[in-house]
Amino acid sequence: MSTAPIFDVVPGPVVKRVIDANKKQVFDTVEAAYRLHDSGSTINPDSYFLRYPDNPNARFIALPAHLGGDVQKSGIKWISSFPDNRATNLARASAVLILNDTSTGYPVACLEASLISATRTAASAALAAECISPRPFEGTLAVIGTGIIARTTVEWLLFRNWKFSKINLYDVDHAEAEHFSKWLRDQCNLTAQIQDCLADAASDSSLILFTTTAVDPYLADEALFAQSPTVLHLSLRDICVNVILASQNIVDDVEHCMKAKTSLHLTEMETGNRNFVSGSLVDVLEKRFKLDHKRPRIFSPFGLGILDVAVGNFVLQAAKASGEAIELNDFFSNSSRW
Ligand SMILES: NC(=O)c1ccc[n+]([C@@H]2O[C@H](COP(=O)([O-])OP(=O)(O)OC[C@H]3O[C@@H](n4cnc5c(N)ncnc54)[C@H](O)[C@@H]3O)[C@@H](O)[C@H]2O)c1
Repeated sequence: MSTAPIFDVVPGPVVKRVIDANKKQVFDTVEAAYRLHDSGSTINPDSYFLRYPDNPNARFIALPAHLGGDVQKSGIKWISSFPDNRATNLARASAVLILNDTSTGYPVACLEASLISATRTAASAALAAECISPRPFEGTLAVIGTGIIARTTVEWLLFRNWKFSKINLYDVDHAEAEHFSKWLRDQCNLTAQIQDCLADAASDSSLILFTTTAVDPYLADEALFAQSPTVLHLSLRDICVNVILASQNIVDDVEHCMKAKTSLHLTEMETGNRNFVSGSLVDVLEKRFKLDHKRPRIFSPFGLGILDVAVGNFVLQAAKASGEAIELNDFFSNSSRW
């Protein structure tokens, strides 16, 4: 006689406590998920997009994923992006993550996932930054698009011991850059300079973070990357084809990146090939190709659902162990067939 699984709910404050208390383990979980993906032990189907024809800015994305190996967890992140939320100080992205048992298929948990999503994005960006940058990890940082993902990424760069001699901020909305600057001052004891244009922010920076909500690429001036910076192109649609072609390109998964009109996808459409991509982050970790420090190195991660499942599973296990997950014993009250 089988019993229905217990269904757990993990709210945002618990997710935050677990992540804050276990940053090293979360970082290692992200790297392990990338390595599992590289070894072929994951299933990461295409993301599904839902958009409103009369509101093209807004979108929902479903990211189903399965992690094999010793993790054995499936799940799906359902995340929405409504950039206009900012007008009322509401975060652009909101999300839930459903995790499933791989032997019965039953959902076993629902986790608040906007922080899980931001965390896996930021931790993977920090991992990429240290893999593709010259050592030591220091220099001038430019943040282009100073929202939630930028904030989380800077937190993770600082956690990984990056030291910045200068921080440049640029946002099309000056007030957003002001918020970010205040946060840096109050929470990190760091001073930043708000720049009035992209060129002033980017041109002397050794690490450049793109976390905008741009829909079409706009950075066409190769001179902005003349100093051969490390570029974390998390927003995926900022850099024009000529600049992509003049750079060394590193991805999370090449197949996924060539979709949804990302800068890389546009480059593939224009050139008819993918030769401009050197390889994945795991290829870098495994030294399967040589990094070229004389060119800009651009990391463009499409954002894999396997990272959400990996980090979400870590959070769930920790929340259950500490008794902070909310157990719903009778969630599946009608699961017995007879
Ligand atoms: N690759 C991934 O895995 C991944 C994961 C999560 C989020 N993202 C992307 O990261 C981006 C940022 O997300 P967020 O939650 O921080 O959004 P957000 O709305 O909090 O912040 C975005 C900021 O970018 C600014 N901006 C928009 N266009 C700009 C431009 N052309 N130049 C300078 N600033 C500009 C906005 O004013 C805003 O302050 C989004 O595009 C999102 O899709 C990527």
